[in-house]
Amino acid sequence: MELLKNKIRQEGKVLSEEVLKVDSFLNHQIDPLLMQEIGKEFVKRFSDQNITRIITIESSGIAPATMAGMILGVPVVFARKRKSLTLTDHLYSAKVYSFTKKESNDISVSKDFISNEDTVLLIDDFLANGQAALGLIDIAKQAGATIAGVGIVIEKCFQPGGDLIRKEGVRLESLAELQSLKNGQVQFVGEENN
Ligand code: G4P
Ligand code: NA
Ligand code: NA
Repeated sequence: MELLKNKIRQEGKVLSEEVLKVDSFLNHQIDPLLMQEIGKEFVKRFSDQNITRIITIESSGIAPATMAGMILGVPVVFARKRKSLTLTDHLYSAKVYSFTKKESNDISVSKDFISNEDTVLLIDDFLANGQAALGLIDIAKQAGATIAGVGIVIEKCFQPGGDLIRKEGVRLESLAELQSLKNGQVQFVGEENN
């Protein structure tokens, strides 16, 4: 998605070989018009699926997911991050280990807001190690929902998340695919390094 890649080129800050900061439009301040275009792109890429709900994770997945939901006219559910699994009544939960933060968090969705009659699109802002997306896939499977696929705003293709999702047999659509963040440079998949 060229509009998104241009925004990353203009405003993305390479913090290290592994981390891209996009606080000016996705992770802190939000660019609603860009989010709307992102929503349209997700809807276009999954137009062959009869999506009934969108599932994301708080907090940074909510903006792009809501835009897609608005266009499709379907509800958007955000998995909540919880510290403990002591109150599991009426919830589907999954453990998500963050390699970045070196801690495990439980994410959960109420049984009221996902069912075996749903076809769900799973959306998140970043795909790195894939643990958050795998957690969403786990929850969708617990609910018996059909998984249309995973939609990601920015995939770091040099990290293992993409392969893990495809290994689950789940379709993955990433709107910006980062090949590398070496030498302080953003390099997209399919672009020459210079
Ligand atoms: P994983 O889910 O793919 O395994 O990723 P990981 O645990 O490494 O990611 C932890 C948090 O860091 C997630 O946000 C994720 O979206 C974010 N993240 C991962 N790589 C990058 C990156 O290169 N740049 C930026 N800006 N964020 C990255 P979170 O803690 O769930 O926070 P929230 O923003 O959704 O509230
Ligand atoms: Na996220
Ligand atoms: Na994030």
